[in-house]
Amino acid sequence: MDRLKVSTAGESHGRALIGIIEGIPAGLTIEAEAINKQLRRRQQGYGRGGRMKIEHDQVEILSGVRWGKTLASPIALKIENRDWQNWHKGMSTLIQDEASIAPVTRARPGHADLAGALKYGFKDIRNVLERSSARETAMRVALGAVCRAFLAEFSITIGSFVIRTGGTGKRCYQEAMKAPDGLKDIEDRLVALSSRADESVVRCPFEEDSQGMIDAIDEAKDKGDTIGGVFEVFAVGLPVGLGSHVQWDKRLNGQLAQAIMSIQAVKGVECGLGFDLSQLPGSRLMDEILYSDDSGFYRLSNFAGGLEGGMTNGMPLLMRAIMKPIPTQRKPLASIDIVTKETREAAYERSDVCAVAACSVIAEAMIAFVLTDAMLCKFGGDCVEEAMRNYKNYLNYLKEF
Ligand SMILES: Cc1cc2nc3c(=O)[nH]c(=O)nc-3n(C[C@H](O)[C@H](O)[C@H](O)COP(=O)(O)O)c2cc1C
Repeated sequence: MDRLKVSTAGESHGRALIGIIEGIPAGLTIEAEAINKQLRRRQQGYGRGGRMKIEHDQVEILSGVRWGKTLASPIALKIENRDWQNWHKGMSTLIQDEASIAPVTRARPGHADLAGALKYGFKDIRNVLERSSARETAMRVALGAVCRAFLAEFSITIGSFVIRTGGTGKRCYQEAMKAPDGLKDIEDRLVALSSRADESVVRCPFEEDSQGMIDAIDEAKDKGDTIGGVFEVFAVGLPVGLGSHVQWDKRLNGQLAQAIMSIQAVKGVECGLGFDLSQLPGSRLMDEILYSDDSGFYRLSNFAGGLEGGMTNGMPLLMRAIMKPIPTQRKPLASIDIVTKETREAAYERSDVCAVAACSVIAEAMIAFVLTDAMLCKFGGDCVEEAMRNYKNYLNYLKEF
């Protein structure tokens, strides 16, 4: 990202998660409650483990905001880990607390444990797992909420919904790519799907699938197993021309894929119709370009997912991602003790059975970072007002094009 810098710090059972975001223009209204709302969405979901019952994430805004408005300076956020109470010594920063708890030496397959221990020279896998844990994504969601507030100024809305959990649900939701009644209709339908998803424990807006998803999670739980799934994430209200075709690293689809793939356990990302584009001839799958005086350039389909040549094309951005099953198993998998080299059962830490619902909310935050950066690259602005002036000027130019 060229204009926005986003980073997080904090261990899963450490004192707190910290996040810093730099590049947000001055004058943006930021309210802790709007951030907490997103944090609550991330904590929902059928099949979550005991940790989510302990944590009730609340953000504290530490810097970069005065009297509710951004100052253009770095914004620092903090989320305390309630579980820290049980880990004062085990996760202490003090040298004298060393060896206060037994080291973790049995690497868990499917986690960063083995590669991380070998790479960094650790004999205690806790030094890896504390940071590789998806607990860190709570801060991504908080920082993403700051970006959502910026995007909302330009009427850009981000949402998501789950389409498959385990083997239940849809391969992809093609209706989200059809726009016979125009742009506004497809945008409204997507936003409605995300709102309906928020009402569902599995974040699935389709009644015909959601009970089956709940049953699949129950079945996995009974067996001591885990399942993954697929979700779709979208943004509506985007202007044409974010990103660029001129250099590989400016292509927005690449940036978005990287952002979503960086989420723990995400193993594949698609744009628009994605892998199914291989199923039909090109004549049926390109989104033909039409024009009317009222609508300007428009399309009746969105198989490209709103991205052509690495740029937004004015249609909704639509991406899909697959989350693998949670690696930690109640019936532990075979592994090796990294110290004794003996065959052992993998370590078990309290764990989710399925976290696809949460993952979809995290993906919203990840695309919020990329889209905020792309908006800032296109429209600049030291303050929101200036970015808005440039944005409106661009919209007027497009009308007269
Ligand atoms: C929201 C969310 C919750 C997760 N919960 C768990 C969990 O409870 N137990 C677990 O073993 N893995 C969990 N994971 C997955 C691991 O964090 C992830 O598989 C691991 O860090 C290895 O990364 P990789 O799968 O990308 O290679 C979760 C991931 C996400 C996004």
